[in-house]
Amino acid sequence: MSANQNKVAIVTGASRGIGAAIAERLGKDGFTVIVNYAGNAAAAEDVIRKIEQAGGKAVTAQADVADADAVRHMFDGAQATFGGVDVLVNNAGIMRLATLADSDDALFDQQVAINLKGSFNTLREAAKRLREGGRIINLSSSVVGLYQPTYAAYAATKAGVEAITHVLSKELRGRNITVNAIAPGPTATALFLDSKPQAVIDNLAKLAPLERLGQPEDIAAAVSFLAGPDGGWINGQVLRANGGII
Ligand SMILES: NC(=O)c1ccc[n+]([C@@H]2O[C@H](COP(=O)([O-])OP(=O)(O)OC[C@H]3O[C@@H](n4cnc5c(N)ncnc54)[C@H](OP(=O)(O)O)[C@@H]3O)[C@@H](O)[C@H]2O)c1
Repeated sequence: MSANQNKVAIVTGASRGIGAAIAERLGKDGFTVIVNYAGNAAAAEDVIRKIEQAGGKAVTAQADVADADAVRHMFDGAQATFGGVDVLVNNAGIMRLATLADSDDALFDQQVAINLKGSFNTLREAAKRLREGGRIINLSSSVVGLYQPTYAAYAATKAGVEAITHVLSKELRGRNITVNAIAPGPTATALFLDSKPQAVIDNLAKLAPLERLGQPEDIAAAVSFLAGPDGGWINGQVLRANGGII
């Protein structure tokens, strides 16, 4: 029997992209998966079907992570249905790019609300409720380090997520809960691919010594390691999963 059997994982933003791959991987690893999404119910149901077809167990949970009450209700639901939560993967996020000179208030406010406050909301619940031996994995980005032009607000939210990762790993002393972040490089999802010219995509794909874009499954494999038994001694770290881009 898998060491993860009877464990419950919430994956935020799991209807598409990296989150969907993480949900499917954790389902295969034996976790019962709560597939959170914001608005795309059909895509979330599709992820559930794939997990079930592979022999796993999953349910959907609609909640805007920027809404603290909605996040609280999602954890309440998990507790009522499954008795508790063991793993939180804080994956929900958006990216809006512009130079500072061209950035409007909405660009800044939306990214702070979802990427930073959204992570704060879920981490606060996890800090109160995660069962002994639990795991928290936050999605940062390798733009924290690369710091390319146009990424100021996005990178700032992810730098904040990394800061909270370090602080929370210390606050949870004594409960055998690890808190880590994974910082992907360019990964082939809508968030990265949408509204970029093909030449820019090709150029970014060649930057890493491994000379390709990351795939959602590459990131899911790193999450699987941190969430599973072999990742138990890794705590308070940021793991850059990016093919060596930085
Ligand atoms: N792709 C990359 O190159 C890359 C690189 C580094 C880091 N990351 C990080 O990895 C994470 C996943 O990115 P991705 O590329 O997979 O993005 P994506 O393909 O755009 O998918 C985003 C997911 O987040 C959900 N979401 C958005 N706003 C939400 C909210 N307010 N509440 C709950 N869920 C919400 C979406 O749900 P709906 O379907 O319901 O809209 C969707 O499931 C993000 O944190 C991103 O910053 C991505």
